[in-house]
Amino acid sequence: MKKTIKDFLSMKVDRERISMLTAYDAPMAGLMADCGVDMLLVGDSLGMVVLGYDSTVPVTMEQMLHHCAAVRRGAPEAFVIGDMPFGSYQTGVRDAVKNGIRFVKEAGCDAVKLEGGSEVLEVVEALVAAGVSVMGHLGLTPQTAAQLGGYRVQGKDLDGARKMLADARDLQEAGAFSLVLECVPAELAGIISSELRIPTIGIGAGAECDGQVLVINDMLGMFERFLPKFVKQYQNLAPMMREGVKGYVAEVKSGDFPAAEQSFFTKTDYSTLQSD
Ligand code: KIV
Ligand code: NA
Repeated sequence: MKKTIKDFLSMKVDRERISMLTAYDAPMAGLMADCGVDMLLVGDSLGMVVLGYDSTVPVTMEQMLHHCAAVRRGAPEAFVIGDMPFGSYQTGVRDAVKNGIRFVKEAGCDAVKLEGGSEVLEVVEALVAAGVSVMGHLGLTPQTAAQLGGYRVQGKDLDGARKMLADARDLQEAGAFSLVLECVPAELAGIISSELRIPTIGIGAGAECDGQVLVINDMLGMFERFLPKFVKQYQNLAPMMREGVKGYVAEVKSGDFPAAEQSFFTKTDYSTLQSD
């Protein structure tokens, strides 16, 4: 049965933790949905773990919609959230609503996510008013990491913590149904979680959040460029994938692949095809 925002609010009340993972393509989305993941996020981490960019900044609306639609096809019953890319909600409320609607209408998303606090409240309100459910994202916000002084833990000082708590409350009041907290001290994430009615989803934000999210490529060991401290590797697939590819190359070179089992034969006598 397809989960709804109401279910996620009940899960918070019942203290049942919410599991979220990122998804970028149909087969992986289907596999994760089969495993009982509560929410799939088509993150703009797409840019880094799939498309080969150095950050999430270059990711476009078209790229996001392309992958969101694939995830929807692969997991028709999943709760799918589309990450609004940098530039798609910063140029005015009208543009933001238009782009948010595209995620729902063209790609079949159940909700969108966007980064920021006080600067996005008006956009969040307008999206919700237009019928687009919104997940917020506070703490380390990768789209504006340069302004934050790089990829680092946020809210370590009291002023930063106070601002984050105020932003979290304001996002809830603006109508956000949930909130990602990225790279936030565990104690602060715990306080924010207990102060809100809406569920918090942590990544590098400790065990007191109402749910957790990881990038699927990180937690399965398929992204080898770097591993943030907050990632737990549940599998390490890259070495296995490398073994598979090396085995193939070696057997093509040696002529051991394909063997008879992978070849087709008929009773037709082809001998007259050859000229001599
Ligand atoms: O893009 C992404 O994958 C995200 C999650 C890490 C929350 O925003
Ligand atoms: Na993101």
